[in-house]
Amino acid sequence: MRTDPLAFLGDELNSLKQQNLYRRLRILDAEQQAHTSFDGRSVVNLSSNNYLGLTTHPRLREKAIEAIEKFGAGSGSVRTIAGTMAIHMELEERLAAFKKTEAVVVFQSGFAANAGTVSSILGRDDVIVSDELNHASIIDGARLSRAAIKVFPHKDVDAARAILRDLPPAQKKLLITDGVFSMDGDLGPVAELAAAAEEYGAIMMVDDAHASGVFGRNGRGTIDHFDVHGRVDVQVGTLSKAMGALGGYVAGSRNLIEFLYHRARPFLFSTSHPPAVAAACLAALDVLEQEPELIDRLWENTRFFKAGLAALGFNTGISESPITPVIAGESALAMKLSDRLFEEGVFAQGIVFPTVARDKARVRTIVTATHTREDLQFALDTFAKVGRELSII
Ligand SMILES: Cc1ncc(COP(=O)(O)O)c(C=O)c1O
Repeated sequence: MRTDPLAFLGDELNSLKQQNLYRRLRILDAEQQAHTSFDGRSVVNLSSNNYLGLTTHPRLREKAIEAIEKFGAGSGSVRTIAGTMAIHMELEERLAAFKKTEAVVVFQSGFAANAGTVSSILGRDDVIVSDELNHASIIDGARLSRAAIKVFPHKDVDAARAILRDLPPAQKKLLITDGVFSMDGDLGPVAELAAAAEEYGAIMMVDDAHASGVFGRNGRGTIDHFDVHGRVDVQVGTLSKAMGALGGYVAGSRNLIEFLYHRARPFLFSTSHPPAVAAACLAALDVLEQEPELIDRLWENTRFFKAGLAALGFNTGISESPITPVIAGESALAMKLSDRLFEEGVFAQGIVFPTVARDKARVRTIVTATHTREDLQFALDTFAKVGRELSII
């Protein structure tokens, strides 16, 4: 009989179980909503990236259905062969106008946008200067590019400057930061890094996945929030979080976008979005423009919930966004906190090593515009009960 050549995977999984790092997927039984059902349990949902509640917004539903009826279920090809539909171009044009850049290219996801862009605009003779907490898709793109990767401590602008200063002026170099860091909810020092990039002739890139639809006027992101329009060469946004659907995009100069059309491998070698996805994203842009009160509500809820957690005495780190970590310390304690909250009707995902440092395991909470005050008060009361039970507060 043939021995299983993948037997080592079982050993790896057992090792994860022993370290309390094994994760079972929670199954969403209903819609992605602020109050919904996972694994058969009704919960207040503090784990989605559905910041504005757009996954179930009537306008997105309606436009997606309309697009299926008009154009079918799939695009049937990659963008560069037969898979560029008029609706894909319309979305790119709308996004470029929204972001106030010359052009935009849409990718299948934010992950593909980051990885495809970094790996295609840099090569083995180049240097990437990157914040230590930048997203995995940036790290993978950097590795694929074969450029030298120089990592600076989180948000340490002086350290980033020191790296840039030591590089020859003619060296092609990219300085890159997340706009909002996804595990801590803090903001990248976008304006200060843009100034450093200008001084040392670096390409400046910002991954605004968690800022899209959340920061800046009508959710235009951190470039708008910090008023650095024209000073960030490569802006990445996502259509998968606040925008309620799926996708990622790069906004920048016409040359950048045309280059990515020719060289970004996820664009060249992977099928484009179904028309319904593009239609839902266009509808999401309409909502951002026509219902700015959703963003106001998101921020009111954020302030209320953050203040409540702080008053209870939890360590909520350095967040400046609707992402608020509740730091427990050890992995096992964070997972226990998450499990007990879930049993009591609150879903806040445990996040452990290697996603965060070993001693900074946490549950991550994300409030949305569609949580009611009752939802959030219930969540706070539950955090108080479970936090005391586990001696975290
Ligand atoms: C900072 C950051 N960048 C990029 C992404 C990828 O975005 P998407 O989910 O659209 O692939 C994420 C999603 O987890 C993220 O948190």
